[in-house]
Amino acid sequence: MGLDIDIRRLLGPVIPPPEGRPEALAVLAACAPASLENVMSSPAPALRLGPHELHRLVAQYLLDHDGDHSPTKVAKALGRSNGAVGNALHRLAEAGHATLTHTKPRMYAANAATSRALAVATGAAPAPRVRPASVPTAKAPTPRTTPDGGIIRPSGQVYRPRKLAHLSDVVVLRRLRAAEVPVLLYGPPGTGKTSVIEAAFGDDLITIAGDGDTQVGDLLGEYTQTSDGRYEFVYGPVITAMREGKVLLVDDATLISPAVLAVMYPAMDGRKRITVKAHKGETIEAAPGFYIVAGHNPGVHGAVLTEALSSRFSVQVAVSTDFDLATKLKIDSRAVTAARNLARRREAGDIGWSPQLRELLAFQKIFGLLGLPAAVSNLIGIAPIEDRDVVTEIVNKTFGATFTPLALGTQI
Ligand SMILES: Nc1ncnc2c1ncn2[C@@H]1O[C@H](COP(=O)(O)OP(=O)(O)OP(=O)(O)O)[C@@H](O)[C@H]1O
Ligand SMILES: [Mg+2]
Repeated sequence: MGLDIDIRRLLGPVIPPPEGRPEALAVLAACAPASLENVMSSPAPALRLGPHELHRLVAQYLLDHDGDHSPTKVAKALGRSNGAVGNALHRLAEAGHATLTHTKPRMYAANAATSRALAVATGAAPAPRVRPASVPTAKAPTPRTTPDGGIIRPSGQVYRPRKLAHLSDVVVLRRLRAAEVPVLLYGPPGTGKTSVIEAAFGDDLITIAGDGDTQVGDLLGEYTQTSDGRYEFVYGPVITAMREGKVLLVDDATLISPAVLAVMYPAMDGRKRITVKAHKGETIEAAPGFYIVAGHNPGVHGAVLTEALSSRFSVQVAVSTDFDLATKLKIDSRAVTAARNLARRREAGDIGWSPQLRELLAFQKIFGLLGLPAAVSNLIGIAPIEDRDVVTEIVNKTFGATFTPLALGTQI
C-alpha cells in the first residue's frame, strides 16, 4: 500500500469543507495518490474527520516520516488538535500498529505493522474481507541458509531439513501455510518440533508456550495498568499474529484447557476472525498469511488432544529423533547407539522414556566440558526413575563400562 494509497479512500466519507475553504477537498483529491506530505505542506485543510480517518492519517504520517514523533509534532503537521492526535497515536501503539519509542515525553514511530492501520478500521464496521487464494510466498522473509543446505533459525542455530512426504519438511510446511491447512506436530520432547517450525517460518513466527495455566487473556490480550495508573488493553499473541499475518505456533497446545483454546477456533475456520469480548467485543480480522501450527507432546502428563482440536488440524505429523542426523551432528556414536536401542525398547513398551536429539546434543556438550564419564553418568541420571534400570543396563552395555547417575561425592 505505502504511498500509493488513494487519498479519498484513506479519508473515507469526508464531511463537506467548511465555508471559506472550498478548495480543501480539491487539494486532497488532487494530491492522490501522492504522499500525504504534499497535503500536509499545503495550508492545513480544516476538515473535520471521523476518528477512524484521523487514525489512518496519523498512521500515514508515521509511514511517511522516519524517526520518532511527538503527538504535538504530528498534530501540528496534520493541522489537528493535540489531544485527538495523541489519542490516535496511543490507539495505534495499543494495536501494535505503531511503536511507543519514548514515554517521557511520549514519542511514536512507524513499525512493520503500521501500514495495516490503513486497512484496519479499528472499532468501525469491519472492512470487506479480501483474501487471496494463497499467500504470496514473497511475503515471508526468506530464512537464511548455509552453503550445505542448512537453514539458519532466528536463534542462529542451524536446522538440517528432514524428509516429509518425499519433500523437505520446511517446503511442506510452507505449502500448507499457503493453502491454509493447519498442521499439528506431535512427538516426544526434544525431537525437533519447534525447530522445524522456526526453520520454515523464520522471523514470521509468533510462539505461545501453552500450559495448564494459560488463560484467554494470555491468548487474546487483557487490560494492564500503565506506569501512570491508567488501564490499557494489551493485545495478546493471537491478535498480533492475526493482524500481522504471521504464523502462530501454539506449543504444547494440548496442555491448554480446551475451553480456553476454543477462543482461537473462529480464527482457524473459514471465518478467520475473532471477537475480543474483553475489549468491547472488538472484531479482529486475520490478515493474509495468518496461520496456526500446534505442537503436542502425547506423553506429557495433562496433554489432552480433544476431538475438537484434532479435527481442526487436517495434517498431523509425527516427529521423532532422526538418529542419522544425530550422527551427522557429530554426537558420539556410542551415545547414538544407546539412544537407538532405548528408542526400540520404548516402542516395545518396556520403558516410557528414551534420549532424544536434545539429550544427545546435551550429552555431547557435557562430554566436551566435563569428559566422557560425566556425560555418560548424566545420561543415566536424567532418565526417569522408573526407567533408570533399563537405561543404565543399555548405556553401560553400549559403553562397555559401569556408570552410575551423576552425583556429588565426598568432600575434596
Ligand atoms: N533437523 C534438525 N537439525 C538440527 N538441529 C535440530 C534439528 N531438529 C532438532 N534439532 C535440535 O534438537 C533440539 C531439540 O529440538 P526442539 O526444541 O525443536 O524440540 P521439540 O520437539 O520442540 O521439543 P519440546 O517438545 O520439548 O518443545 C534443539 O537443540 C534443536 O536445535
Ligand atoms: Mg518445542
